[in-house]
Amino acid sequence: MKLTDLVSRPARPAPWSEGDNIPWNDPDFSRRMLEQHLTQEHDAASRRSETIDAHVSWIHNDLLGAKPARILDLGCGPGLYLQRLAKLGHTCTGIDYSPASIEYARREAVREGLEITYQLADLREADFGSGYDLVMQIYGELNVFKPADANLILRKAYAALNEKGVVMFEVQDYEDVRREGLAGPGWYTSAAGLFSDQPYLALQENFWDETAQARTGRYYVVDCASGEVAFYAQSAQAYRDEAYVALFERNGFQQVKILPAMSPDLSLPRGNFFPILACKSCLE
Ligand SMILES: C[S@@+](CC[C@H](N)C(=O)[O-])C[C@H]1O[C@@H](n2cnc3c(N)ncnc32)[C@H](O)[C@@H]1O
Repeated sequence: MKLTDLVSRPARPAPWSEGDNIPWNDPDFSRRMLEQHLTQEHDAASRRSETIDAHVSWIHNDLLGAKPARILDLGCGPGLYLQRLAKLGHTCTGIDYSPASIEYARREAVREGLEITYQLADLREADFGSGYDLVMQIYGELNVFKPADANLILRKAYAALNEKGVVMFEVQDYEDVRREGLAGPGWYTSAAGLFSDQPYLALQENFWDETAQARTGRYYVVDCASGEVAFYAQSAQAYRDEAYVALFERNGFQQVKILPAMSPDLSLPRGNFFPILACKSCLE
């Protein structure tokens, strides 16, 4: 794409019509994103260690009653949760399509002598396997899938659980998705950053589609040396609470519960990301 193509871009994108997501699965992008997952300076790609420790304690003690479980993590990134859960005695499998994250996760498991299974695959196509006590997804990725794909992933998660199994999906708050869609355009420059190892100018514009209840972000990354433009678009579905409950029930789940945070303290205010719990058959 050339800079002049920006001038003739459509005024408004229909959600998911210009792309699914930022290029998590591109080898170079994923190498640069891995640094963002691991940094302790911000929580943009994964949470900082202290928060992950607290989340893992909640998963282990409150969700799993401190009993060894078979866990599947969908979109596990560099395995920051599974590594900790495996050390607590759980049998862990993670799926992600980021090559650098999966390579890092595998390396760390070997370094710590942990038997964790990592699969490099797109969640829409991956075989999830079966017999899990817990299928989880952390940090709001469910919203980024178009509704047909979110339904597909939930159906596959349901099928992957054993009869007593539960799901825990950490999703994004309706108002937070909407706020991102209504945010004004922005730009920044970088000598080397997430989008390129070479100097670039990043331009972003955001859209909120009231009818579809979805936001879209457009990212134009201009290479400073050549003026070539790389383009990415990412959309996210906003769900109100009743829409979340309907989404999970439609895919077979029972007793759908929305909690304020991944914490035993149920009096906490709800964050921008919060867990939804549901069970397959709700057997004791
Ligand atoms: C916000 S990150 C969260 C990573 C991890 N759950 C954590 O909290 O540390 C989202 C993750 O979802 C993965 N992802 C996004 N779309 C995916 C897809 N279609 N198939 C597999 N993984 C996907 C990305 O590669 C990334 O690792």
